[in-house]
Amino acid sequence: TRSISLSTLRRMKADGTPIVALTAYDYSFARVVDRAGVDVVLVGDSLGMVMQGHGGTVPVTLEEMAYHTRCVARGLERAYLMVDLPFLSDYDDRAALESAAVLMKEGGADMVKIEANAAQAPIVEALSRAGVPVCAHFGLRPQRVGQLGGYRVQGRGDEAAEQVLADARTLAAAGADVLLVECLSAPVAARVRAATELPLIGIGAGVDCDGQILVLQDILGITPGRPPKFSHDFLAEQGSIPAAVEGYVEAVRSHRFPGPEHGFE
Ligand code: KIV
Ligand code: NA
Repeated sequence: TRSISLSTLRRMKADGTPIVALTAYDYSFARVVDRAGVDVVLVGDSLGMVMQGHGGTVPVTLEEMAYHTRCVARGLERAYLMVDLPFLSDYDDRAALESAAVLMKEGGADMVKIEANAAQAPIVEALSRAGVPVCAHFGLRPQRVGQLGGYRVQGRGDEAAEQVLADARTLAAAGADVLLVECLSAPVAARVRAATELPLIGIGAGVDCDGQILVLQDILGITPGRPPKFSHDFLAEQGSIPAAVEGYVEAVRSHRFPGPEHGFE
């Protein structure tokens, strides 16, 4: 078993040590990322874009997630392994439980991540009750881009911000172990952090989270298409891929990343 566990992440939150998370999709990069000191490695369904060349995460299948998870798992000695439940692999309790079984038993995942707000709390509860460590990903949920009509900042305005806070409380009460928020203004993310006891990992959500996550290709300057505003090319200022990942780890640990320029009003 790998050395970082859920208790390590809880302790880091309690100590105020920023949790560093990053995606990886294969063995070679998993080793680099693990050795650079990343605490949580995510096999994200962003692999639909960066590995497969799709325009979004909707086409990614459970079998593809399981394959990449197996590859990454072999490369990790230290980091905690979080894996996304891909679109429609979690449409009800039973589907989510069967998908989590594949990712944990065949893949070697330590935790599954589900794009869920309060409406999906019963599914989070079913996973938790069955013993599956769960990260609930809300705010912007990229699998919902079809319904949203585009990728945009969430929780804007008092009512929407209150809804995001209600999501956080409901998901925590349902048994989520970690929360992850995407594309929220820094003040709204700070309120989410204060709303529960759970470690909060942010992406495009400002510096007032317990941890940060980015997509590996974005920090290496090889985003297919336009790089997101909330990311940063760490390879440009470092000489090698391992040094770039170490630069990201160091920047998050020292609260130098994200800066105000990576956030949303
Ligand atoms: O799929 C992914 O890479 C993600 C994050 C970047 C949070 O869900
Ligand atoms: Na994802």
